[in-house]
Amino acid sequence: MKADITVIKHPLVQHKLTLMRQAETHTQDFRRLLKEISMLLAYEVTRDLPLKYETIQTPLTRMDAPMLADKKMVLVSILRAGQGLLDGMLELIPTAKVGHIGLYREPTTLTAVEYYFKLPQDVEYRDMLVVDPMLATGNSAVAAVDRLKETNPASIKFVCVLAAPEGLQYFHEQHPDVPVYTAAIDQGLDEHGYIVPGLGDAGDRLYGTK
Ligand code: URA
Repeated sequence: MKADITVIKHPLVQHKLTLMRQAETHTQDFRRLLKEISMLLAYEVTRDLPLKYETIQTPLTRMDAPMLADKKMVLVSILRAGQGLLDGMLELIPTAKVGHIGLYREPTTLTAVEYYFKLPQDVEYRDMLVVDPMLATGNSAVAAVDRLKETNPASIKFVCVLAAPEGLQYFHEQHPDVPVYTAAIDQGLDEHGYIVPGLGDAGDRLYGTK
């Protein structure tokens, strides 16, 4: 199956991403830029949401007007950097429910270890957007989607800001049915599993923890 990867090349996204990459960009600007990018990503990712027509009354007349057919969406944030994408997305999709999955990277093997998992009760039949700014080795993304598939959502899309080719390949091998949306595909990974040229540790830059 051909990998379903969408790179969002919109100039606003690319410009904001460049600002985020810069080492001198401070926490508060990084956080604001990530939120702004997340809204632009949400706009692209929700492009195919189905519409239904409802009869409404404008100040002038009645008309059949388009509305979202189904508001049953759930956003799942991979802790902790996923939180940086979540807020902006929720502003565009305020009716979405929210789940969290906590995974940390075991520093020597870089494998994903789960420490938290909480979803809304009725995720079955909901469309799921899984968000994490960085798809690096793909280990966390694969582990998160493995776990989320157990809950039988109607569909899953994975949304990130930066992806590494190695991580994308691994993710696609494990989950060929899950489309990936990203703002850029970088060169690769360094020996610590960081994306190069990348933007550093997204969680640290988001929360000023380094
Ligand atoms: N996680 C990050 O925050 N940054 C990377 O470059 C890779 C994984």
